[in-house]
Amino acid sequence: MYDRRQFLGAIGLPAAAVACTGVRPELLPAGLLEGEGGGPDDEDFWFEVGRAFTVDRTLVNFNNGGVSPSPAFVQDAMKRHLDFSNSAPPYTMWRVLEPQREGLRERMAGAFGCDKEELAFTRNASESLQICQLGFDLERGDEVLTTNQDYPRMLTTFRQRARREGIELTAISIPTPAEDTDEIVRLFEEAITDRTRLILMCHAINITGQILPVREVVAMARRRGIPVIVDGAHSFAHFAFKFPDLDCDYFGTSLHKWLFAPHGTGLLYVRKDKIADLWPLMAASEKQDHDIRKFEEIGTHPAANTLAVGEALTFHLGLGAERKEARLRYLRDAWAKRLLEHDRVRLNTSLDPRFSCGIGNVQIEGVDSGPLNSWLWNEHRILTTPIYHAEFEGIRVSPSVYSTMEEIDRFCTAVEHVIAHGLTS
Ligand SMILES: Cc1ncc(COP(=O)(O)O)c(C=O)c1O
Repeated sequence: MYDRRQFLGAIGLPAAAVACTGVRPELLPAGLLEGEGGGPDDEDFWFEVGRAFTVDRTLVNFNNGGVSPSPAFVQDAMKRHLDFSNSAPPYTMWRVLEPQREGLRERMAGAFGCDKEELAFTRNASESLQICQLGFDLERGDEVLTTNQDYPRMLTTFRQRARREGIELTAISIPTPAEDTDEIVRLFEEAITDRTRLILMCHAINITGQILPVREVVAMARRRGIPVIVDGAHSFAHFAFKFPDLDCDYFGTSLHKWLFAPHGTGLLYVRKDKIADLWPLMAASEKQDHDIRKFEEIGTHPAANTLAVGEALTFHLGLGAERKEARLRYLRDAWAKRLLEHDRVRLNTSLDPRFSCGIGNVQIEGVDSGPLNSWLWNEHRILTTPIYHAEFEGIRVSPSVYSTMEEIDRFCTAVEHVIAHGLTS
C-alpha cells in the first residue's frame, strides 16, 4: 500500500488540483500533502482524495451505489483514447488500442485474484450476468434458485426464460438484515430440489448493502452439484476481497460503480473449465469455444471506455482496497449511528462489518420513504434512493470516497428535522 504522499503523487493530484480548482498545490495549507495517514477519519487525506473528482458540490450525492463519478484522470484517459480513436479508427482504435486490453486483462486478473484467461470485459454487470443466465443450457422444468432481493433485471432475465422455455424460478426470502451465515446457507439449501440446476445470488444486495456469505453457499451448492452465478455489481472494489474468497464458477460486476471506471464498463469471470459450456450473448465461432474472449464478441464498440479502466484500477490500488473499505464503512457508521439515536429510526442494514460496508438503508417509522426521498432532494438537494420491497422499505444511502463529513452532517440534520417536524419546510 502507498503512503499518503506516494498515493497522491500516483494519481497526479497536485496537477488535478490545479486543473479542477485552479488552486496551486504550493498554496495548499502547509503539511496537507505531507506524511502518512489515510485512516478512515483522516479528513485531510480524504479531502485530497475528493479533489481527484470533478463532482458538483452544490448537491450531496448519496447515490453512488447507482453509478459513480470517475476521478478526473480517469475521465482524461478516456477522452485521450477517444480522440486517438477518432484520428483513424480502423487503425488507431482497432489495431493500436484494442490489443491494449490484453495488458489490462492481466492487471485486472491480478486485482481480482484469478487467471487472465478467466476474465472478459463487458459493458456492465447486467451484460456479465445475462451472459451466464442466458448462456447456461436449461430444459423445460429445470429450476433456478435465487432470492427475492436479487436485482430486478436479473430476476426479469430468468422470468423471460420461464416464459420462453418453461424453466422455473424459485425466489426465497432472506432476513433483513441477515446476520447468521448458517441460517442463510440453510435457507438456500432447504429450497433446493432434484430439479435445481443453478443458483443466482448477490454478493452485496443493492437495496440494503447486505453482504451475503457467498463462499459458504457456493461450497454447499457444489456438494449438491449446483453452480452459483454471483452478482457482484456492488461488491468489487467496494470492500476488500479476492476471487478465492468466493470460489464461485461465475461472477459479474460493473466497474462504473465502486471501481469508479468510465460508465459502461463491466467485468465477467467464468471458471476456466466452465467457459466451453457457456454460450456467449452474441454468437462466436466454434474456434472460440474455450476462449474467454468469445464473451467480448459484441461488434464494434469503443476502446476508450475499457482502456480507461486501467486508470480507475490504478486509483483503486493506490488508495488501497482495505483503506477504501474502512472509509466507506466509517461514513456509513457516521450517519447510521447518529440517526439510530432516534427511536423511530429503523436500519435495514447490519452494522456488523461481516455483513455490510458503505451502503445503508434507513426507514423512519411513520414517514413514507418515497416522499422522504423527494423531500431530501427538493428541500436540500440531497440525492438518495427510495426502496420499496414487499418486506421492508427505506431510503438507500451510499456516500463515496469523495464524500465529506459536512455532507454527512447535512444529511443527518435534514433527516432529524423530518423526525421532529415531518416533511415540512
Ligand atoms: C445487484 C445489482 N446487480 C446488477 C446490477 C446491474 O448493473 P448495471 O446497471 O451496471 O448493469 C445492479 C445495478 O445497480 C445491481 O445493483
